[in-house]
Amino acid sequence: MAVETCEYELVPHRGFTLISGTHDPDDVDQIQDLEIRDSDVFVVTYPKSGTIWMQQILLLLEAKGDLAAISRLSSSSNADLIPWIEVKGIRQTFITAPSPRMRVTHLQYQFMPSALSQKKGKVIYVARNPKDVLVSYFYFHKLANMLETPKDFDDFFEKFMRGDVFGCSWFEHVKTWYSHKDDMNMLFITYEEMIQDLHSAVQRISVFLEKELNPEQLANVVKHSTFNNMKKIPKANYEQVSDGLFSHHEGRFMRKGTIGDWKHHFTVAQSERFDQVFQREMKDTPLRFIWAI
Ligand code: A3P
Repeated sequence: MAVETCEYELVPHRGFTLISGTHDPDDVDQIQDLEIRDSDVFVVTYPKSGTIWMQQILLLLEAKGDLAAISRLSSSSNADLIPWIEVKGIRQTFITAPSPRMRVTHLQYQFMPSALSQKKGKVIYVARNPKDVLVSYFYFHKLANMLETPKDFDDFFEKFMRGDVFGCSWFEHVKTWYSHKDDMNMLFITYEEMIQDLHSAVQRISVFLEKELNPEQLANVVKHSTFNNMKKIPKANYEQVSDGLFSHHEGRFMRKGTIGDWKHHFTVAQSERFDQVFQREMKDTPLRFIWAI
């Protein structure tokens, strides 16, 4: 049974939600059986945690920092070049794609190829402090036509706390993936670490992916993946993606790119309630986030 009423609906599926029109449940169920090559890379995120940023970094690492080489590729967005494995039709194209096959996903752990747990392929999990995720997701609901526009911030706050959004509960997503960190070849990195020291983050990612870049190439990867530079890149802003999917007049994909924007949106009561839930839900994990700088 659908839980939302809009052109695209959130449809519960095996403890998660899919978006009708974008995802096909049968297709999603077959992701588990995919054969995985050691060179495969999956970027896993809860929505609004830095997916497009990691796509940009991976594309640049592959191109040895040469932004022009990426611009020349025929695609309308970063997501065309490193697509979502759960989107209709992508699983099929993954099977025969040449290596290295790089894909992103917002799926929960239970849907992912079981071969990943036999240490095949690589997984990069990007986590972001959930207060900023909530704010970013609120604005994204206005921009993205496949998600229902929230009535107001308070309404969206409640939905997020209930996990009544695509991606379901942020707490479950992060906890579950983190608990499987050592079963697979996983780099677990936070958005805040990337903000605070992008050069070190890019270095860690390149070592993890076994990419050998010289210092100049590495510096170019960093340069072309800063917020200010990505803001100017139409492919990173989905600007060439049709109005059918995005209401471009409602805002930009590259919105603020900071730590702590939640302080301009949460009331004191909302923040305190959030902290209590965070402490309860995350008490058994060592994960700590940076909430402001
Ligand atoms: P804000 O809405 O807070 O600005 P995703 O790609 O997972 O949907 O995440 C989008 C969020 O990541 C947006 O957050 C976007 O601005 C931010 N982001 C994208 N590229 C970034 C970069 N280079 N530096 C900092 N933040 C970035």
